[in-house]
Amino acid sequence: MRIDIISVVPDLLKSPLQQSIMKRAQDKGLVQIHFHDLREYAKGNYRQVDDTQYGGGAGMVLMIEPIDKCISKLLLERNYDEIIYMTPDGETLNQKTCNTLSLKENIIILCGHYKGVDQRVRDMFITREISIGDYVLSGGELGACVLVDAVVRLLPGVLNDETSALYDSFQDDLLAPPVYTRPEEYKSLKVPEILLSGNFAKIDEWRHEMSYKRTKERRPDLLNE
Ligand code: ADE
Repeated sequence: MRIDIISVVPDLLKSPLQQSIMKRAQDKGLVQIHFHDLREYAKGNYRQVDDTQYGGGAGMVLMIEPIDKCISKLLLERNYDEIIYMTPDGETLNQKTCNTLSLKENIIILCGHYKGVDQRVRDMFITREISIGDYVLSGGELGACVLVDAVVRLLPGVLNDETSALYDSFQDDLLAPPVYTRPEEYKSLKVPEILLSGNFAKIDEWRHEMSYKRTKERRPDLLNE
């Protein structure tokens, strides 16, 4: 999979996407993540990427020309399955969308900044608009990091234990069950007996019950009951 991310502050994206599991995924060749600085596609000494909005009002808007140049260059090089714009007025990200996107070959992610982008960019290029939640960030970069992390960890071979993404919260519409590690007892807090029993059928059953209980308590909206 190849992911191209366009931003006016690409450094904001780099640290989260160049460490740990995201780094390993790239080192293994399972994903290529490319960062594009919008300023490199802007004109003049000032490399202007934004301007005031027509009709008046506070806040700067990202201009169409640098974005057009950057996206058009990428489109000349290869086909893209999706051109995503990160915005609080997009569809709210969920696990199903992450699963769908993890099957794509090439995607572009455009990060908004300030007041957002000129509407004509959205009309001309964008195939999907994604929000990471009902709150407003100062730009799309943190949202893009969330999206890329959630998608890349689903690619086969990225996680050590191939099955572990299958047990994630949301993967089967249930939250994940509680987990424990050594020691068996800490300040009189004990690990549930069943997890020490070695009876894996019973352990699976217990985990499923716990997932269900947790979901019912915390996110009853996820249960179709
Ligand atoms: N840009 C600003 N707020 C955002 C959000 N909630 N999700 C995605 N991109 C954003």
